[in-house]
Amino acid sequence: MADNRHLLLLSLGELITQEISAAQLVERIVDLVVKLLEADRGTIYLLDEGHGELVSVAAHLPEIDELRVPLSEGVAGHVASTGEVVNLPSARHDARFWEAIDQRTGYQTESMLAAPLWDARRRLIGVVQLLNSKRGRFSEADAATLADVAEQAAALIEQTTLRHELGWASTLVEGSEELADEAPQLVLGESFNRIVGQGPAMRGVLRDVQRVAPTDATVLLRGESGTGKSLIARALHYNSPRRDGPFVAVDCTTLPETLIENELFGHEKGAYTGADATKRGRVELADGGTLFLDEIGDLSPVLQAKLLNLLQEKTFRRVGGNDLLRADIRILAATNRDLEASVEEGHFREDLYYRLRVVQIEMPPLRQRGRQDLMQLVDHFVEAAAKRHGRRVDRITEEAMAMLLGYGWPGNVRELENCLESAVIFSDGEISPSTLPLPQQGRTRKIRALGSQTDAPPDRFVDEPSLAELEARYIAWLLGEYDGNRSACARVLGIGRNTLLRKIREYGLE
Ligand SMILES: Nc1ncnc2c1ncn2[C@@H]1O[C@H](COP(=O)(O)OP(=O)(O)OP(=O)(O)O)[C@@H](O)[C@H]1O
Ligand SMILES: [Mg+2]
Repeated sequence: MADNRHLLLLSLGELITQEISAAQLVERIVDLVVKLLEADRGTIYLLDEGHGELVSVAAHLPEIDELRVPLSEGVAGHVASTGEVVNLPSARHDARFWEAIDQRTGYQTESMLAAPLWDARRRLIGVVQLLNSKRGRFSEADAATLADVAEQAAALIEQTTLRHELGWASTLVEGSEELADEAPQLVLGESFNRIVGQGPAMRGVLRDVQRVAPTDATVLLRGESGTGKSLIARALHYNSPRRDGPFVAVDCTTLPETLIENELFGHEKGAYTGADATKRGRVELADGGTLFLDEIGDLSPVLQAKLLNLLQEKTFRRVGGNDLLRADIRILAATNRDLEASVEEGHFREDLYYRLRVVQIEMPPLRQRGRQDLMQLVDHFVEAAAKRHGRRVDRITEEAMAMLLGYGWPGNVRELENCLESAVIFSDGEISPSTLPLPQQGRTRKIRALGSQTDAPPDRFVDEPSLAELEARYIAWLLGEYDGNRSACARVLGIGRNTLLRKIREYGLE
């Protein structure tokens, strides 16, 4: 048992590093616990505070979609309201047992074991419940184990970015959780661990991921550099039936052609001088899992032809080999190139292009994701960097936030991430404009800041700026237009020069 428990915690720990969906995270947890404690069925309920109910979010309940249990009803309700662990050898004879559930499902509950899920501040989040021990009844040791495992699972969930979706909330940036604060919503929806994005642009992407991940379809990820293509590739893998197989990424730009071929397909012994043993390539290493071909737009014509074969027939040959080998892989690819133009110019095979683009996911640039997403990303990266470098960050000043929101982010999410990592290192508990490695002065910043707007029609404000930001950006732009002449700018703005000077200072535009 001790060993099993160790294994269970190990598997749970692994989940934190994966881009798995919220729904799958709780499902995996319930599966592991059922297995560990040799139960027939298990359920994880989360508290829906708004309705005063427990909602089943992961359950071995083939009969129904979702179960809602009022806090005043049933064993789960009892555990939620008292925080006790309940172990019933014969549940049906207990006054707390809620027959309505068995009546709805037609399932016959005999023994039952349930324990509370707490967050770090010991607020109740939900209940984990097991039905019908395969050994007849649950022992006291089982009860202790479940209580313990529930605590560890809760602690682990709290380390994922999914804690917001699952009811565990804590945040650095004021306002970044505005939506989540409104009402505890218990629709697990399209959220994925380690992937931030609730605005319309990212929600569309995540919905597609949810739909495409379970299939074996080839997916082409497109979008500017640093927009999260590799991240989404991992999400597609970890939410697919191949999740327990390998995820193997190959960057098609970094190596010369012959090396890439070798890297991809391996070689036979004696294929060339120095090849003194057979070597398996990445395609073989990905067997049973997912092969992610990054920067596919850079592949040479010879490799394009071999790749086409791999895509169409799932077959390949090692370098120097005659045997046609078969690969059990799912292929994902990414590019930031204009593949259509490459096809037009004859640099990219048209047949390969069509084969790849069956399912396309287009990553929106950061400037099109809206204010809410940007604030959540800031929160996410500051927290991660603080943890990584053992720093404490208590606050991000309004001016710093305005600056982050006003900048154009040509390097997209990666640039934002790097910028914040540096800020965390140089900050003293507080991130202010001076800790941000962004151009603070001169034309570059102003032009870039406005660059964020140029590809949107001026009346659409795709990045949803606040009034303060809009003001900051407009002032920055005007200052650029009038070569820093503040009196001229103040006149255009219809405000006094002193008011303008104050705003310039406030927004860090000096
Ligand atoms: N929505 C997101 N939420 C959290 N982190 C993100 C998000 N999008 C991107 N990132 C992070 O930003 C960085 C860049 O992302 P990623 O490497 O996936 O981009 P990419 O499109 O593959 O870039 P490139 O074109 O350079 O290969 C990574 O550290 C990734 O984890
Ligand atoms: Mg990448």
